[in-house]
Amino acid sequence: MISVKDVSKSYKDIRVLSDVALTIDEGEILALVGETGSGKTTLAYLIAGTIKPDCGEIIVRGRMVVDINRKEFLKTVGIVYQSPRDSISHRFTVFEAIAEPLHIHGEFDDTSPGRIKDALREVQLPVDEYFLQKYPHELSGGELQRVAIARALILAPDMLIADESTSFLDPSVQAKVLRLLLDLQNERGISMLFVTHDIGVARKVSDRIAVLHDGRIVENAPAHRVIANPEHQYTKQLIGVAKGKTDVVV
Ligand SMILES: Nc1ncnc2c1ncn2[C@@H]1O[C@H](COP(=O)(O)OP(=O)(O)O)[C@@H](O)[C@H]1O
Ligand SMILES: [Mg+2]
Repeated sequence: MISVKDVSKSYKDIRVLSDVALTIDEGEILALVGETGSGKTTLAYLIAGTIKPDCGEIIVRGRMVVDINRKEFLKTVGIVYQSPRDSISHRFTVFEAIAEPLHIHGEFDDTSPGRIKDALREVQLPVDEYFLQKYPHELSGGELQRVAIARALILAPDMLIADESTSFLDPSVQAKVLRLLLDLQNERGISMLFVTHDIGVARKVSDRIAVLHDGRIVENAPAHRVIANPEHQYTKQLIGVAKGKTDVVV
């Protein structure tokens, strides 16, 4: 579905990604793992087409990302960011936050309220009028992240990018939101790029793990093989850190 070919990216003169290459298959969950500052978000934004690479190419279903119209692209790839308090306007009610992508795409019509309620049911949130009219500050972190997921899925994309979407939540809430993401991925058969700094979480959720270190992909293999047989010293370190630490049970 996605092919990243020898992509490099610098901010000013600081190189963040060097010759990064990876693919994501249709229906696959790829976990992108690396410590804070390793360039995970940069790579996610490059794949989402919100920033451009200095060199290299990103191909989505045979077309260069940079050539795809932004509106059209948002129907292909949905993104759930790390902090929904930053990504969802505090002026939007729950209903308005989920309706916005439909408005942007000129798809808001008589069927939309029903569609929005269906989306809320899918992320296991209430659909009564009282909840629909709530503002972000009236929701818990877990509820707001579910609203963000509903918003990312309302246009029925074929792929979801989840950039540390559960990291800031309490472990028990994190486990529930992770479970929800996996169930949605499974029901819809969509691809997922799951970005996390925690290789323990990556192992639980992904088919394949790619490890980013010093701007390069140092490991890229089926999740069980990466954990059982890591090739790179850095991956071994990450596994060492994750052992006994991961308190998220999916
Ligand atoms: N817009 C930007 N301008 C300058 N530097 C940036 C920008 N975005 C990220 N960086 C830097 O690039 C590096 C990688 O950042 P990022 O992709 O956010 O990593 P991660 O998501 O793995 O924490 C960091 O050193 C960060 O400070
Ligand atoms: Mg990041």
